[in-house]
Amino acid sequence: MHATVLAPSILAGDHANLASSAQSVESLGIPWIHLDIMDGHFVPNLTFGPQTVAALRKISGLFFDTHLMLDEPQRYIEPFAKAGSNLISIHIEPVYDHTSTLARIRELGCQNGIVLNPGTPAEAIEPLLDKVDLVLVMTVQPGFGGQPFRRDMLPKIARIARWREERGLTFRLEVDGGIDLKTGPECRAAGVDTFVAGTSFFGASDKAAVAKTFAGW
Ligand code: DX5
Ligand code: ZN
Repeated sequence: MHATVLAPSILAGDHANLASSAQSVESLGIPWIHLDIMDGHFVPNLTFGPQTVAALRKISGLFFDTHLMLDEPQRYIEPFAKAGSNLISIHIEPVYDHTSTLARIRELGCQNGIVLNPGTPAEAIEPLLDKVDLVLVMTVQPGFGGQPFRRDMLPKIARIARWREERGLTFRLEVDGGIDLKTGPECRAAGVDTFVAGTSFFGASDKAAVAKTFAGW
């Protein structure tokens, strides 16, 4: 079982000063940060691109967990790898060659991840489980921070965790959406080791206490 990791989502940070948001994470000794990339097609929202990731890379030693919410992620993995992403995760829902894109992410020197939306069954990613470093189960419909946690995703999380154990696989199991000090432990109990937290981290008055609690699970 992996040690738990908190990946604060910079989506909930200060977009006029992303550097200070990243530094507030790093200064607490949190190793990861989650970067949400949205194209306005796969999800009805837009964020930022490789240029911003490269600028953050210059001021940060954090592990960049880059979540691509794009219709054509295969077109953008190289720019994000070159910009300094450490892990690039891609959604299963759009039609493209998932297997070769996952392999290409590794060739570019990054870890890879596969992501499922709430409406997508675990079986959709089952054939890819031995080809990934991380599985990300969305616990909200992606596009916006601050939405309520989808508790009905817990059986799907548990099923993926069970496959991991039965097959002796070592991918990380990550959740994203509505994760806080209440919902996090429910996910931990289902087998999650990697927690994205936007609102509950950046909205907290005592971020150090939040980081400490997540690290203790
Ligand atoms: C949503 C993004 C999330 C978002 C989570 O589409 O993928 O990473 O930042 O935000 P919270 O933690 O506020 O639900
Ligand atoms: Zn995300």
